[in-house]
Amino acid sequence: MLGIEETAYAKVNLDLRVSRRRADGYHDLDSLVAFADIGDRLTFDRADGLEFAIKGPFGGSLPNDERNLVAAAARSLGVLLNREIRVSITLDKRLPVAAGLGGGSADAAAALRGLIRLCDLPLTPADLMPVARSLGADVPVCLSSTAVRMQGVGDRLSPMPLPAELPVVLVNPGDAVATPDVFRALQEFSGSRPTERLGATDHSFRRQLEKGVNDLETPAIAIAPAIRKVLDALRRQPGCSLARMSGSGATCFGLFEDARARDHAVSTLVAARPDWWIAGTVLR
Ligand code: C5P
Repeated sequence: MLGIEETAYAKVNLDLRVSRRRADGYHDLDSLVAFADIGDRLTFDRADGLEFAIKGPFGGSLPNDERNLVAAAARSLGVLLNREIRVSITLDKRLPVAAGLGGGSADAAAALRGLIRLCDLPLTPADLMPVARSLGADVPVCLSSTAVRMQGVGDRLSPMPLPAELPVVLVNPGDAVATPDVFRALQEFSGSRPTERLGATDHSFRRQLEKGVNDLETPAIAIAPAIRKVLDALRRQPGCSLARMSGSGATCFGLFEDARARDHAVSTLVAARPDWWIAGTVLR
C-alpha cells in the first residue's frame, strides 16, 4: 500500500497574553493563533511494528526515541485503542526546533491525523483531545491547524477565522529557546484580552493586532538577545506593519501589506543575514 503524508503546519501566536501562573506551574493564556503555510512533513507507511525515523535540515538535534512527541503520539494512540500501532513514520524536520512555532506539538498532532487516516480509525477530533492534551499544551490547537483564540493552558479553543490571508516573513536567529525557561523568567502579566470584538475586515483586524502584545517577548529577549535584532530588522523592511515574537520565541513574524513587500523583505534579509532562518509565507 502507498504511504500517506501530513504537514505539521507552523503555529504562529499573533499575540499572547498571560493571565496568571497556576498552582501546577502552567500558565493561563489568551492568544490568537494562526498557522503558516509551511511546516515539517511526516510520511506514514504500514510496517511490522512502530518504526520512527527523522531526517531533514533540523532533524539532527532531535532524539528519535520515545522522547520525540511523534513516537509518543503513536504510543498514546495505541494505548487509547488498546492495539499495537504497526506503522513506520518518517519526520522530515524542516522548521527550527525550540523556536516558538509549536514544532514538536504540530508534529505530534500531524502524527495523530496521519495514523487515523492510514489505519482508517473511527476517531473524532473530540476522541483525540485527551491524548492531545496529555502530549503537550499546544497539541490540541495543532490538531485542526486553523486560526483560533486559544485560552486556558491551550485547551480552550474558539474558532477565529482570519478576514484574509496574512503575508508574513518568519525569522529565527538560530538560538534555541526552552519554553519553560521563558515562562519561569516572566514577571509581567497583561491578563485577558479586552472584550472588544475582533475586526471583521483585513484592515480593522490588522489595526487591532497592532495593539496586541506577546508577554513572553521581554523574558525571551533576556535569554536570547538576538530576538531584539530580528524584530528591529523586520521593522526596517518597507511594508512591514507589525513585527512580533511567536510563542516563547525565538522566531518572530513580520506582517506585510502585501506579498510583493513580503518577498522583497525576504530577499533583503537573506542577503543581510545568511545565518538566520528566514521564510516568506502566509498565515491563515
Ligand atoms: O505542555 P508542554 O510540555 O508543551 O509545555 C512546555 C512548557 O511550557 C511547560 O513545562 C511549562 O513550563 C510551559 N507552559 C506554561 N503554560 C502553558 C503552556 C506551557 O507554563 N499554558
